[in-house]
Amino acid sequence: MKEKTEELRKKLSEMLAAAETDAAVEAIRVSFLGKKGAVAELMAELRNAADKKSAGQIINEFKTEAEQMISDAAERIKRAALDAEIRSAKKYNPDIRMNNVRGSYHPITLVSREVEAIFKSMGFTVEDYYEIVDDYKCFESLNIPKHHPARDMQDTYYLDNGQLLKTHTSAAQNAIIRKYGAPLRAIFPGRCFRNEATDACHENTFFQMEGIMIDENISISNLIYFMKTMLSEVFERDIKVRLRPGFFPFVEPGFELDINCLICGGEGCPSCKGSGWLELCPCGMIHPNVLAEGGIDTEKYTGFAFGLGLTRLAMMKYGVKDIRDFNSGNLKALSQFGSN
Ligand code: DAH
Repeated sequence: MKEKTEELRKKLSEMLAAAETDAAVEAIRVSFLGKKGAVAELMAELRNAADKKSAGQIINEFKTEAEQMISDAAERIKRAALDAEIRSAKKYNPDIRMNNVRGSYHPITLVSREVEAIFKSMGFTVEDYYEIVDDYKCFESLNIPKHHPARDMQDTYYLDNGQLLKTHTSAAQNAIIRKYGAPLRAIFPGRCFRNEATDACHENTFFQMEGIMIDENISISNLIYFMKTMLSEVFERDIKVRLRPGFFPFVEPGFELDINCLICGGEGCPSCKGSGWLELCPCGMIHPNVLAEGGIDTEKYTGFAFGLGLTRLAMMKYGVKDIRDFNSGNLKALSQFGSN
């Protein structure tokens, strides 16, 4: 009996080594351990054996061993199939863990968080708003009726369903004023879209940070105070600001807020075209029509609003010369600004 099981063990081992699929292993299992398999045949021979007891033991030992060999082979095939799958997936999805790249925040996120923290410390809430809005939100609620020439300043992406990609964060003003009423202090950063021809200073996708404050007796001096405080903290030095008249239908009076040039400190240099000032933030006193459209009592309340160019601010703060770097997905360019 011993020779017979030795012979079977050798045969089984060879057959399993050659097997490459689950089905092949299963067929081998049946031929050895199945009802009419080799082990069953040995059992049948047992009836005529001289030494039944020891022969039976030998067969049982072989049976246990054969079961183990078969399950090992099945395991080997399963693992090989898995390895092959991983290898072929890697061809298309290179294992990024191998590059040892650490993630970092986008510079716009960093500046946005910094400005948010400053305004939060001055009692403002930070609001979020949609990127797809309707004509009412983006224009009409802001005192820009249909066919108003001010619409030409913002070359807008319209969707087939009549909605549009918001061209400015001002599009959230009406919803936020309606939601909270007066008094109100809120900022709302957001991504904006315009059909711009792109170059180093223009992008079709950029970020703004809108801010509004509505209360009794709010005046332009409140506006100047908040802007100056925020900018001085962002740039970590005392920033001088000046207001020039500017036209926006949703503010009256409206201004362009300039800051003294950070490169020359106001002396005049090529970066500020010799003027000593950089245009940074349009702003103004919220137009009574806009307040009324948001359900505010215009006899009692006034407010200011500003639309800070967040992308522009990030360019100035980090010295980024080409606005297109921000949307480039170029990790080398984007990961230099901080990794926390
Ligand atoms: N929404 C304007 C734009 O993107 C910018 C702006 C101007 C926002 C004056 C304001 C403001 O809140 O008061 O062109």
